[in-house]
Amino acid sequence: MSISSHLFILGSLLVLLIYTTQPPSLLLLRGASMGPIAYHSPDLAWNTHLLVKTVPKKHGYFLHITDMHVDDDYTPGATIKSACHKIKSSGSSHVAGPLGTPGEKCDSPPQLAQATLDWIAREWRDKLDFVVWTGDNARHGWDNSIKRKRKDVYSTNQKVTDMIQRTFGSSHSATSLPVIPCLGNNDVFPHNSIHEGAKEKDLLSFYEHLWSQWIPVDQRSSFRQGAYFVTTVSPHLQVVSLNTLYFFNRNPAVMNCNKGSPGDKQLFWLEKQLTQAQLQGTKVYIMGHVPPSSRDFYGSCLKKYISTVSKYTDNVMGQFFGHLNMDHFMLYSEQMKVQDMPFLPDLQEDHDVHTTRDIGAYVTWLRDMYVSLESVSDPGQTSSPSSPLLVVQVSPSVLPVYWPAVRIYRYDTGEGADYGTLLGYSQYHANESAYHAASSGPLEYSLEYTTEELYGLKDLSAKSYFQMAKQMVQGTEEGNRTWKAYLQNMFVQAHNSKFNG
Ligand SMILES: *[C@@H]1O[C@H](CO)[C@@H](O)[C@H](O)[C@H]1NC(C)=O
Ligand SMILES: *[C@@H]1O[C@H](CO)[C@@H](O)[C@H](O)[C@H]1NC(C)=O
Repeated sequence: MSISSHLFILGSLLVLLIYTTQPPSLLLLRGASMGPIAYHSPDLAWNTHLLVKTVPKKHGYFLHITDMHVDDDYTPGATIKSACHKIKSSGSSHVAGPLGTPGEKCDSPPQLAQATLDWIAREWRDKLDFVVWTGDNARHGWDNSIKRKRKDVYSTNQKVTDMIQRTFGSSHSATSLPVIPCLGNNDVFPHNSIHEGAKEKDLLSFYEHLWSQWIPVDQRSSFRQGAYFVTTVSPHLQVVSLNTLYFFNRNPAVMNCNKGSPGDKQLFWLEKQLTQAQLQGTKVYIMGHVPPSSRDFYGSCLKKYISTVSKYTDNVMGQFFGHLNMDHFMLYSEQMKVQDMPFLPDLQEDHDVHTTRDIGAYVTWLRDMYVSLESVSDPGQTSSPSSPLLVVQVSPSVLPVYWPAVRIYRYDTGEGADYGTLLGYSQYHANESAYHAASSGPLEYSLEYTTEELYGLKDLSAKSYFQMAKQMVQGTEEGNRTWKAYLQNMFVQAHNSKFNG
């Protein structure tokens, strides 16, 4: 007999031994280099061989990638004035770059999306457990001479999905990673607008088919209803993919989250998932495109979202969004009185890209949000919030509004009650100036900062963010320093000094 079959027999015996000494409902396997993985035993009792071979190793990292905004008509060297579409007529020096044009009103060339995924494949592919992918794969509709059509939105999404599949594996590959997609406001047609169910049959069946490898079969009906679903990424962790366009105040097909509205139905569904997860002791990450805020959500939707998720803060370990292109976080509590929360003045029609908008107003709004945490601070005990606090993570985009960016989260995969706790993230960005200056080589992303080192956060819990946010607005020297660093990261350093806070 070969050594490997000896090992196999030994392994099987071990498994049987462990199995027979464990409570029947749950089988825990402990490996030297991996955390424990719990299985419900009934299906597996007869198949210990399979069990040994299919124990997935958890690395404790996942990727969040968002807002690629791929534009097939992007033309390097074209004038920026033409939305990077027409080749320059005369020797203007300020033209579309080969991998995007930071700080300008242009979308991304497909090469930027590919170069980004290539970097992830080189540096991170083998260390990731799953991928959170929060939409806006298609371009904006800025150039009136090349109007976006439904088929363009679909074909760009097809193209980006193919790229993602080549990077993380198709359903046929044994090593493929779970990828969780969602719709962005540029992935629907027309822009921002989406109905529910049969009224939106064409679009919903297109994406159901396109993303079928990632949408569990038992979730197809909720997906066909409104493009939301839940998937299991490890035995104790689920990811809920929301269609935030039903909460989005730019979606002309919905008006609020009153009873019977698509948003209300989605929140009812969400609550059902969260209740089940709580009963099963499963942790949940929530993801979507548009982050909850009084700026982007209908008031009734924001209120219901906050009150729903607030009931499950022991299970909801993270909330991941994109859309705003700026690296920051928001904090919400029911105590903070949504109706009193300052609204951001809407400064211009062009809602999506924030290069020319008054950044100062957004920063003031965010700072006011942190200041209003006073209302959830106990006078005596100020290190923890006095009521459940939601942490909403907003990741910066691949689209180089500033510089292209992707984020890698680290989470607890140990056996304790902290399973799924976000421990920190590493923010990466690609210095496009360096890429343009170099004459060869692929686009490289580099580490911009980690939450541990820069902000001193020991984890990404509500308590940690509560303390950080309060510290930043306290007016102390240290608080001012953190606030300054935070703002610098919010507007990922671009070549253009107007973004430097
Ligand atoms: C980006 O690259 C340029 C060109 O190589 C360099 O001068 C600049 O310092 C870099 N910026 C950062 C923040 O690394
Ligand atoms: C912190 O910044 C605020 C506002 O810019 C300023 O008023 C305050 O004096 C600063 N605090 C310290 C200790 O420098």
